[in-house]
Amino acid sequence: MMKTLLVLYLCLYVTWAQEVLEYDDYDPDNKAAAKNTTSEGTAVDARGHRPVSSGRDSYSPNRYAPPPITSGQRYRGRPTPAPVGSQVQEKEEQPDAGGCTHASEAMGALCPTGCELKNALLKQEKNVKAVIVELKPQIEELSRSSNNVYNYVNGISNSLRERQRVFDNNNQAVSQYTDQVEEQHAYIKETVDTIFPSNIRVLQGVLDKIRLKIQKLEKAILSQNEQCRDPCITKCPIPVVSGKECEDIYRRGGRDSQMYLIQPDPLFPPYKVFCDQTSQNGGWVLIQNRLDGSVDFGRRWDDYRRGFGNIAFKSSKRFCETPGEYWLGNDRISHLSKMGPTEVLIEMQDWTGAKVYAQYQQFTIQTETSNYVMAVNGYSGNAGNCFLEGALELYGENRTMTIHNGMMFSTYDRDNDNWTPGDPSKQCAREDGGGWWYNRCHSANPNGRYYIGGAYTSKMTKHGTDDGVVWMNWKGSWYSLKAISMKIRPFYASR
Ligand SMILES: *[C@@H]1O[C@H](CO)[C@@H](O)[C@H](O)[C@H]1NC(C)=O
Ligand SMILES: *[C@@H]1O[C@H](CO)[C@@H](O)[C@H](O)[C@H]1NC(C)=O
Repeated sequence: MMKTLLVLYLCLYVTWAQEVLEYDDYDPDNKAAAKNTTSEGTAVDARGHRPVSSGRDSYSPNRYAPPPITSGQRYRGRPTPAPVGSQVQEKEEQPDAGGCTHASEAMGALCPTGCELKNALLKQEKNVKAVIVELKPQIEELSRSSNNVYNYVNGISNSLRERQRVFDNNNQAVSQYTDQVEEQHAYIKETVDTIFPSNIRVLQGVLDKIRLKIQKLEKAILSQNEQCRDPCITKCPIPVVSGKECEDIYRRGGRDSQMYLIQPDPLFPPYKVFCDQTSQNGGWVLIQNRLDGSVDFGRRWDDYRRGFGNIAFKSSKRFCETPGEYWLGNDRISHLSKMGPTEVLIEMQDWTGAKVYAQYQQFTIQTETSNYVMAVNGYSGNAGNCFLEGALELYGENRTMTIHNGMMFSTYDRDNDNWTPGDPSKQCAREDGGGWWYNRCHSANPNGRYYIGGAYTSKMTKHGTDDGVVWMNWKGSWYSLKAISMKIRPFYASR
């Protein structure tokens, strides 16, 4: 009996310990609160929306939001192509204040993904250490209790010997009793001699493995630290041609899609962006990009305000022509979009390589004072009009809840969504994975969690909600896209 229990306990324990090791704890402060929020008795099958439950719960779609900017065109149609001369060939090695911290102003420090890896490793190391600290007393307790049993068995052995001595010359009644005791004794002794030590050995083995893991992690982190110190001072040449934004750069001859330095406002320092100069004649500032899940998008308000991620990588010979995963930053997006009429292009790709897009001729993001309210208009494309119409698979109020136009920006630490405002247990950004213009909650979730392979289930998510990189009107709630990007450029009519 004891034997079985003990073995069972050990098995459970070892399994538990391994599970904890796998857990990737990105976001410790939202875990406790989020655990209970979705469970109103049953598991939710949240397809973007959060249906109104009976009782006092109600939904009000009405909110004042300024319309998108339509007047004050910055550009006329493009002049006939200027000769593309040697302009682009001239280049300047721009020292980059890089480093592993993708810090505020120098956002876009050209850091290898190694820097992200470093952060992940650090987080994992923290977890492993905690597990060991928990394991230790358990092992000690086991050794102690096995010692107790050992003493007990010794005691029995002694008393057995004693009895044998006393009753040595006596009758069978006693010997029968003694047989029984001897049997028990033998069993317990076996347990103590073999099972206990081997169990402790198993635990010790687990512990040693964990130690090894930590050592490996520490080594990896050290080497990352070394690597990140130098290559982060980028050797990525930035083209000489610059401008207010990518359309300006295009008109000045910057025709290659790559990283550029732009300066929309002479009062503020220039910063780096990736310009797409080929899609639909180019001129696009890339403001959001997902393509491999290398950057964590489950971030705070300040990160989304300032921007994060990797602007571009030097993939081969020349400039930084490969965009990384990044969010340009709400202040910059707002500023660019408020300089005049602005259009947005959202391109996406599934895991078979199929591509669709959604485009809005007008796209304006207000300033932080208004929590970056988004306004769009003038849809075209084949991905589905999520921003203005919501999820077409939902009806009535449920669909209205998934419209993004007119919504403020929310992150898990700043709740501006339209799901029972003021109730901390009802926050879309806590459940749906990223910062976004959540309503109650979404039909599009480009900043959601990255799931490799596409299809995912509510069981795989943290909160049972469809928190993937989702565009419902194309692939539904339970398909996470392989790639998605958002690009903006000044809108001018003669296009
Ligand atoms: C979770 O919800 C249940 C019932 O809805 C409640 O009894 C329990 O206290 C909650 N737990 C936490 C940690 O809030
Ligand atoms: C809204 O969604 C809930 C559950 O998802 C469903 O029970 C309800 O019938 C829906 N309402 C409409 C109008 O479709």
